[in-house]
Amino acid sequence: MKLTVVGGGSTYTPELIDGFARLRDSLPVSELVLVDPSEDRLALVGGLAERIFAKQGHPGRIVTTSNLDEGIDGADAVLLQLRVGGQAARNKDETWPLECGCVGQETTGAGGLAKALRTVPVVLDIAERVRRTNPDAWIIDFTNPVGIVTRALLSEGHKAVGLCNVAIGFQRHFARLLGVSPEQVALDHVGLNHLTWERAVRVNGENVLPELLTCHAAELADGLHLPPELLLQLGVVPSYYLRYYYAHDAVVRELLDKPSRAAEVAAIEKELLDLYADPALDEKPALLERRGGAYYSEAAVALASSLLNDTGDVQVVNTLNNGALPFLPDDAVIEVPATVGATGTTPLSIAPLEPLYAGLVANVTAYENLALEAAVKGGADRVFTALLAHPLIGQVEYANALTDKLLAHNREYLPWA
Ligand code: G6P
Ligand code: MN
Repeated sequence: MKLTVVGGGSTYTPELIDGFARLRDSLPVSELVLVDPSEDRLALVGGLAERIFAKQGHPGRIVTTSNLDEGIDGADAVLLQLRVGGQAARNKDETWPLECGCVGQETTGAGGLAKALRTVPVVLDIAERVRRTNPDAWIIDFTNPVGIVTRALLSEGHKAVGLCNVAIGFQRHFARLLGVSPEQVALDHVGLNHLTWERAVRVNGENVLPELLTCHAAELADGLHLPPELLLQLGVVPSYYLRYYYAHDAVVRELLDKPSRAAEVAAIEKELLDLYADPALDEKPALLERRGGAYYSEAAVALASSLLNDTGDVQVVNTLNNGALPFLPDDAVIEVPATVGATGTTPLSIAPLEPLYAGLVANVTAYENLALEAAVKGGADRVFTALLAHPLIGQVEYANALTDKLLAHNREYLPWA
């Protein structure tokens, strides 16, 4: 089995390699190709990847290349984890929206739109090349903003599934709190990528969320930076990203007062790359835990394994709505539990979504659709419309100012701007 990772020079890659090595029985990879434009990164990350495989006795071959077409040739699955413009572009996404009093975040709000505009054309080009050389290959997209990027891929008819680690993170966390194994925990996880709520936590079929909240609301809320009373009142666990909605103004004040996450990540990455350069290092370093991608490798291996081995098990993925949430268009991409097999992903049936969540989900879906239009067709008007549709922006004055800033900071990536 040949697997290709586009953006393989990412500092996250050792996490993935570790997952492939540990979980090799469910996913026997004979060749793992890391594709990245940066040769330096490939040398460092590829070297460590080889040492991790060797230490864990993994027989697979690690190949590195800056040639995309070579890298994807013959791949059974292609994992996308690229970042157009790197942390420098992310730093801008997290900064200029604050000048308008709006949240600066890499996937949520105006910064997320900028990232979508830079990313969608690049990802569509890669997907087209994959289809040309290898029409049966699966594309697994971890590239943010995952909801919009996955919608772009599916609207062009690609064999694609979107992946995020929020659900698997909750599953592991709840399992720890409940003293059970993660496999025993099934989530009623519903919404859009980075806009989800856990409405039920089932252990052996029984919903234990009420008890979980009674006993652990403070700890859970602490990790989400939301008040425990909110979790108890709503009876659900919102994802960390709901904070940007439920506490928008407080988050803006906080962000104005500290370095951006991109700046923090850039410093961590520098340290990580120094560690990767050490020929004695043959495992993923603990420092990697300071990145947000916990359990990413487990989620990616599980997804690839189910797609390629046709297991038909249930995983949380980003997939076409197709009526699962009846108030959304069929071609919207939602993040829900779905069966995963050789023919793709099919959402399980979903209990009706309460108005409090449905309203926001419908609103952000409309924004995502307009964001995709802007990313594919270009044009300042389309950028403005998407921003105006976003529930965290919504005012003409802000949408206008943010359009100008977005275009000014991203011209080198947007040929039409
Ligand atoms: C979580 C999200 C990812 C995001 C990451 C950011 O894992 O699900 O979509 O990319 O956090 O982590 P970072 O360390 O880059 O801030
Ligand atoms: Mn994510």
